[in-house]
Amino acid sequence: MDDGARARTIVASVLAWWQVARVERDRLPWRSTSDPWEVLVAETMLAQTTVGRVSQRYPLFLASLPTPGACARTPAGEVVRLWAGLGYYRRALGLHGAARAIVERHGGEVPATLGELLALPGVGPYTARAVLVTAFGAQAAVVDTNVGRVLARAVAGRPLRMPEAQRTADTLVPPGRSRDWNLALMDFGSIVCRSRRPSCSSCPVAREGACAWRGGAAGAAGADEAGTSAACSDMSRGDPADPAAGSAGVTGRQSRFPGSDREGRGRIVRAACDAPVSPADLARVAGWPADVDRAHRVAEALVADGLLVCGAGGELRLP
Ligand code: ADE
Repeated sequence: MDDGARARTIVASVLAWWQVARVERDRLPWRSTSDPWEVLVAETMLAQTTVGRVSQRYPLFLASLPTPGACARTPAGEVVRLWAGLGYYRRALGLHGAARAIVERHGGEVPATLGELLALPGVGPYTARAVLVTAFGAQAAVVDTNVGRVLARAVAGRPLRMPEAQRTADTLVPPGRSRDWNLALMDFGSIVCRSRRPSCSSCPVAREGACAWRGGAAGAAGADEAGTSAACSDMSRGDPADPAAGSAGVTGRQSRFPGSDREGRGRIVRAACDAPVSPADLARVAGWPADVDRAHRVAEALVADGLLVCGAGGELRLP
């Protein structure tokens, strides 16, 4: 099979797989909207938080802030409060800044061009393209972690760095089916072509002999999700030959959350959502009662990020 035929086979088999898989995925609350603000909120949340967690918080966030105007009029601290539980709280400030820019520069309507979207605070290439595709139906390609992994493994069979990954993704978008294709590819990466223990034995791309990494029937038979084969038990530990490693948009495994600064940051922000945190309480609130210096260092970073402000008595509160 030449590369063109292989690419067409990959697109056809992923779309065919998705016709079934989408029944479940279409129940996700952001899948039934093409409202650009609702899509921007969902994509900002999904960029660094799991689908399960976003599913819980997203409807509540939109019930309070249903439009860019509503968000722009709300104090930043209230947006952070609505972000509670989603982590990476700087995104809440970014979204608040984006809402203000949408009101000031675009009359309250989320813009529909890549350049204008990228110029909004907190909006990067992934989010901008995801909004273009899922809200405006644009002929564009989204490259997130899941997509980057599928492109490197199935399409190229070697690591792809940006901008090559973006160019590769761009060439695959079937005319007139941009939204379906991008959602299908994201879902395929998260359900079948998973980071660890990919389901090669039931993969529709491998079944067609179109996966550049696993090959055809041999590759598909050689790995399965139970991890019984040599290939798959290697993959469960991070296969050194996996082309996804080091590819565009593919992050390494996240560092351990328990005991991390990130955990303490989250605890401090969540406490400040309820009441100002006094300097005397800070180390306990952060979860490090015996490490006052660490708690102060992390709190200073939160103030520098604009997520907390420091009152006259040294108490920390939401902005
Ligand atoms: N639907 C739209 N964008 C998505 C994403 N990034 N992750 C999961 N589902 C999505």
